[in-house]
Amino acid sequence: MTFDMFEQDGVNAGQAECYEQDVHVLRGFALPYVQDLMQGINKQVKTTSPLRKMTTPGGYSMSVATTSCGQRGWITSDTGYQYADRDPITNLPWPEMPKAFMSLAQSAANKAGFLNFVPDSCLINVYQAGSKMSLHQDKDEADFSAPIVSVSLGISATFLLGGFERQDKSSHIALHHGDVMVWGRADRLRFHGILPVKAALHSITQDCRINLTFRKTQ
Ligand code: SIN
Ligand code: FE2
Repeated sequence: MTFDMFEQDGVNAGQAECYEQDVHVLRGFALPYVQDLMQGINKQVKTTSPLRKMTTPGGYSMSVATTSCGQRGWITSDTGYQYADRDPITNLPWPEMPKAFMSLAQSAANKAGFLNFVPDSCLINVYQAGSKMSLHQDKDEADFSAPIVSVSLGISATFLLGGFERQDKSSHIALHHGDVMVWGRADRLRFHGILPVKAALHSITQDCRINLTFRKTQ
């Protein structure tokens, strides 16, 4: 077990790394927002729409626990993946996107050169040791002109940045607490995923990694 809180946080804070033309990693960009993000997750989102492990259309339970906020939430169903106006567990609208979520997503998008990003959905993924996200494309949105903004909190993980075919070789990008990735335009439909997360402890999220993925879905 490693103690991320001593080794990783903010080591390269403020650096912006560009992997492909339109794939940016903003190191530590979310650090000033962490307290508001954690409060939003714990007090506003999870209390209305709890974390759950959804079942894929193929019948597998996802290893990542998820919930959503904003106008629409990403869900699985027997027929595929989609965005829904209501949480199927509560049958209520998803919780509103907390203000700090929106301002972080917009300022990260601006910093990466994507102006006027207005996400209508934030997916919250919670990874425990061993949880992973297989290679996939984000393609359930109505148009691909808006970027994806993806925030990492808590224990570190390895992000796989692939090509445009599933079998293309992937690069590995280490993501730490507070890092924000933004990708779009020519790179919007790249395959990506997360390797199985290694057991670790973080002072803010304890034994898990939290990812917030902001999207404009319609
Ligand atoms: C995703 O692609 O849905 C999640 C990526 C991440 O957890 O960083
Ligand atoms: Fe994704």
